[in-house]
Parts: sequence; C-alpha cells; structure tokens
Amino acid sequence: MDPITVAVQWLHVLLGIVWFGYSLALAIFFIPAVSRLSIPTQREIAAALGDRAKPIIDVIVPIIAILGIIRGTLLGPIDSVAEVFTTAYGVTWLVALVMIVVVYLWGRFVILPAVDRLNAAPLTLDGTPTPKMETALTRAKQVTVLELLGFFVIFTCMILMRFGL
Ligand code: HEM
Repeated sequence: MDPITVAVQWLHVLLGIVWFGYSLALAIFFIPAVSRLSIPTQREIAAALGDRAKPIIDVIVPIIAILGIIRGTLLGPIDSVAEVFTTAYGVTWLVALVMIVVVYLWGRFVILPAVDRLNAAPLTLDGTPTPKMETALTRAKQVTVLELLGFFVIFTCMILMRFGL
C-alpha cells in the first residue's frame, strides 16, 4: 500500500463527498424542508446558502478533478494516452473526467441562472407564486435533477474503476 496513493485517494473521496453530498443533501433534505417556509424567507436562505457554497465549490471541483487525474495516471493503471481510449478503465476514467466538467459547467451556467430567474420572479400581492414563478420553479427543478443524473454517472464510474473497468 503506497501512502501517497492512499493520501491522494483519501482527499479525492473526501472532497467528492463534500460536493456530491451537498447536492444530494439539497435535494433530499434542504429544498423539501425550506419549501414549507414563506417565499421571502426561502429566498433569503437560498441567497445566504449560495453565497457560502459557490466559492467553496469553485475551489474543490478542480482539486477533485486534478486528484482524479493523478490517481488514474501517475498513481494508477493509465500509462499512455492510447490506454485512455483502448482500455475499459481508461474509457471509464475519461467519462468521469468529461462528466465532472459537464456537471460543473451545468451548475454554473444552467442551474445558477435558473435559480436567479426563480428568485427574481414576481409574487402576487399576498406573497403567493405567480404563474411566471411556477414556470421558473419547474425549470429549476428539472435542471437540478439533470445535474444529479450527471453525479450518478460519475459515481458509477468510480465504482467501475474500483473493479478495474
Ligand atoms: C463528484 C466527483 C467525484 C466523486 C464523488 C468521486 C468519488 C470517488 C470515490 C468514492 C472513489 C473510491 C472508489 C472505490 O475505491 O471504491 C474514487 C476513486 C477514484 N476516482 Fe473519483 N470521484 C469523483 C470524480 C472523479 C473524476 C472526475 C476522476 C477522473 C479524472 C476520478 C478518478 C478516480 C480514480 C482514478 C479513482 C481510483 C479508482 C480505482 O482504480 O480504484 N474521480 N472517486
């Protein structure tokens, strides 16, 4: 057991848990719980959470990717560019690499604008959602579910590589 490989994988998995776990916790615990509060309160909480999460995610995602690259190549079985395309492990690793970029950009350029539109959508005078807000909410939910699918693809790649695929 090489201690450097253990350390790289330890940090990679920990940071992966922070990012993936944050998205899962939002979907499973946070959004359903906060949805019961008034819309102005929801917006206040969502803004504070976004301000806290965004800069942290911007730092940890590149680190997860770099550690994943090192773990698969310098500390793993991928020894040449050809092996990325000609071995099952290489292809799975490449899928994970492409997907982490896609999921990150999706969060940044699709989910965040969808949430901004949701937060800017008008309310009725008694504070209930307008049809415009309902539409923005449906869209925000759809793009968030798609992000989770991307996470599950990456997660499945991790398990496959563990078994050499
Ligand atoms: C959300 C993003 C990610 C999460 C949550 C994550 C999580 C994990 C976990 C839990 C493992 C340990 C698997 C096991 O031993 O059973 C692992 C291993 C690994 N990850 Fe990731 N990972 C992520 C992204 C990536 C990316 C983008 C790459 C490629 C650049 C990558 C490359 C690897 C490699 C090569 C291993 C070692 C696999 C092996 O040979 O056993 N990971 N990752």
